[in-house]
Amino acid sequence: MRGFGGLLLVLVIGAIARFAVWIIARRAIEDDLIGGHHIRRGTTVVIPIHHIHHDPRWWPDPETFDPTRFCPPDKDRPRSAYLPFGGGRRICIGQSFALMEMVLRAAIMSQRFTFDLAPDYPVELEATVGRGSGSTPRCWPPTSTTNTTCGGCKRIPVAESPPGS
Ligand code: HEM
Repeated sequence: MRGFGGLLLVLVIGAIARFAVWIIARRAIEDDLIGGHHIRRGTTVVIPIHHIHHDPRWWPDPETFDPTRFCPPDKDRPRSAYLPFGGGRRICIGQSFALMEMVLRAAIMSQRFTFDLAPDYPVELEATVGRGSGSTPRCWPPTSTTNTTCGGCKRIPVAESPPGS
């Protein structure tokens, strides 16, 4: 995979990622002040990644799927306006692997198949919230990435999921 085709695929994957993750969450272990808002200890703070990825200040015509908006990169766009893999100390450790795998898979499939949208198939975004690594509220310092109860600190029990979730 070389040249323009490879670059285009990277841009397309980058553009898809802008729609991929909806929220991540953190649980405050201490009272805090964020942007003038008082956050009480134990509060779950939701980081609305999908909303950030559609903020017209950084994403003109935000609902449009446009891979070319990444090329050239917008130097005025803050780094934290694009967070498909989270950010900071809990950033996705699979980021490089996932990006490489997505680009390679897309390249291999597009060499063998031609994709068409089925006629009249609705193209709609659908949000699902699960209890995967990206949706379980975290404590800081980190204690557990897999348990639904916070193994280490035990100071703030993580609420049980509603039945059937
Ligand atoms: C397109 C694919 C992927 C997306 C969009 C994605 C997204 C994310 C996001 C947003 C987080 C941050 C969660 C948070 O801050 O609460 C995260 C964390 C994480 N991801 Fe991924 N991820 C992807 C693929 C992968 C893969 C392939 C692996 C492993 C091979 C992986 C392993 C992890 C782990 C272990 C964490 C937790 C890191 C920590 O809490 O220190 N991810 N991912």
